[in-house]
Amino acid sequence: MNTLSPSQLLEALQWRYATKVFDPQKKIPAATWEALSQSLVLSPSSYGLQPYRILVVGNATTRQQLLPHSWGQRQVVDASHLLVFAARTSMTEAEIDAFVNRIAEVRGIAISALADYRGMMIGDVVQGPRSAVAGEWAARQAYIALGNLLTSAALLGVDACPMEGLIPQEYDKVLGLSGTGYVTVVAATLGYRMAADKYASLPKVRFPVSHLIKSV
Ligand SMILES: Cc1cc2nc3c(=O)[nH]c(=O)nc-3n(C[C@H](O)[C@H](O)[C@H](O)COP(=O)(O)O)c2cc1C
Repeated sequence: MNTLSPSQLLEALQWRYATKVFDPQKKIPAATWEALSQSLVLSPSSYGLQPYRILVVGNATTRQQLLPHSWGQRQVVDASHLLVFAARTSMTEAEIDAFVNRIAEVRGIAISALADYRGMMIGDVVQGPRSAVAGEWAARQAYIALGNLLTSAALLGVDACPMEGLIPQEYDKVLGLSGTGYVTVVAATLGYRMAADKYASLPKVRFPVSHLIKSV
């Protein structure tokens, strides 16, 4: 594997910022989008269950409908891509079985050999204490995918804005999520910044490393 130098990584992370103004004319090339979608697929999740779906909202009319439910933030209509992260509200045996079947398929092993792993997952997220907070747990997994996407985008020179400034229940209605077992948790817009976006050149506001990271 080719690795980046530490300075190359930091250059990309300094370059990225939560983009406020996207160029509506500039679209992400297909190969770049393919890599970004793989960054979502390859994102790690608890047990590997991937308890979320990512909706890529391509329809311009749908994106206009989402604008008033996005605190009026124009990124949702101007960016090349609008992604909505929808997480499961609860976990059932059906999701566990779908995953167990997938492991068996990909790794060429018998489903019966995965019985203990299946039981462990059901005993945790379906029937155990975590089942009471399964929606929150699923949302956390979705946010890891969001983080992976943001870093991947920066490394590819694609601008992005993570977006919690939206009304999830209204998104669910517009996107037809109601009653599916998935709810909107967060969105991300991707594309290319406008030169006029003043946020690009503002110094990053962060607490110093000594404040954030403690040796214990
Ligand atoms: C989960 C999450 C939700 C956010 N929601 C919004 C949003 O709705 N609109 C926006 O302009 N920025 C949003 N931001 C961007 C943050 O304000 C921004 O990341 C933070 O101020 C640090 O600035 P930087 O990302 O430009 O370095 C969000 C960031 C995160 C991680």
